[in-house]
Amino acid sequence: MNTEVYEPDEDTYFLTEQIRKLIKTRKFESVLEMGTGSGYISLSIADKVNKILGVDINSKAVEFAEKNRKEQKIENVEFKLSNLFEGVAEKFDLIFFNPPYLPGKEDLSCDGGEKGQELIEKFLIEVKNHLNEGGIGVILLSSFNNISELERRFNLVKLGEMELFFETLYCYKLLK
Ligand SMILES: C[S@@+](CC[C@H](N)C(=O)[O-])C[C@H]1O[C@@H](n2cnc3c(N)ncnc32)[C@H](O)[C@@H]1O
Repeated sequence: MNTEVYEPDEDTYFLTEQIRKLIKTRKFESVLEMGTGSGYISLSIADKVNKILGVDINSKAVEFAEKNRKEQKIENVEFKLSNLFEGVAEKFDLIFFNPPYLPGKEDLSCDGGEKGQELIEKFLIEVKNHLNEGGIGVILLSSFNNISELERRFNLVKLGEMELFFETLYCYKLLK
């Protein structure tokens, strides 16, 4: 199993951009980033929201994100270990996830299960229980996923897309 901490990449920057746009539209008191990796997205929006919790299943990622937080002297972001929502009791106004979305089980950062979207489906099933009334869930998806099936099953609304030369990235929201 590859447990290297995911280095921010095009998907990270695309989702950061989408989240930045969203947090301009209204006030989000509490935010959860699922699968925070290096903590890049949470740390780069910290000055725009009240409080953020970033969680990851990979302890190396949690340690690295915490190191980055300390270096940047950011006080309103907390990082902790959690397998999806297992270690998360609270509810949030906004929850976002740049998930592993490729088929496989070898790489914690990139592999999302045999079909590539089992983890995504689990997140989309569980996220509503952790949103405050009127809260928003946001997920990044790829043209490698079965987008039409996910759109239909989970009532997703597209926020934006970005074409790369080998795939298209999509950002979707789900309303509570
Ligand atoms: C594609 S990376 C994104 C990292 C970071 N958010 C970014 O955008 O650069 C996916 C992240 O999800 C984490 N992850 C994978 N399975 C998870 C699970 N079951 N629960 C929580 N995090 C998970 C991985 O460890 C990895 O850090």
